[in-house]
Amino acid sequence: MEVPGDTHYVFICQGKNCLTKGSAELLGQIRTALGGQQTFRVVPFICFGACTASPNIAVFPDRLWYSMVMPEQRTCVIQSILRGEEISELSANVSNDLKELVFRMLRKPFGM
Ligand code: FES
Repeated sequence: MEVPGDTHYVFICQGKNCLTKGSAELLGQIRTALGGQQTFRVVPFICFGACTASPNIAVFPDRLWYSMVMPEQRTCVIQSILRGEEISELSANVSNDLKELVFRMLRKPFGM
């Protein structure tokens, strides 16, 4: 796996709970929206362990988190990812401890 550099990795959970809340469509929509952006990579993820707040998105190394993303919020989330800003109401559904654990885990493959 390459070192991130200027690349922003948008991990979108495709675990069972997130799939039941539309994460496959979310993945497709975000992939299409960010497809023209060379600095963004959209990557399916198996499960963040935040299943009660499905569907979940984690952006690395930006440390952005979006949870309970409803279809009508997707465009807003995409704009927010591009700006590198969190949406507080979509970030607050997951504990900071879990986010920290996930972001630490995501750093490992990059040797960070
Ligand atoms: S299924 Fe998505 S966080 Fe667990």
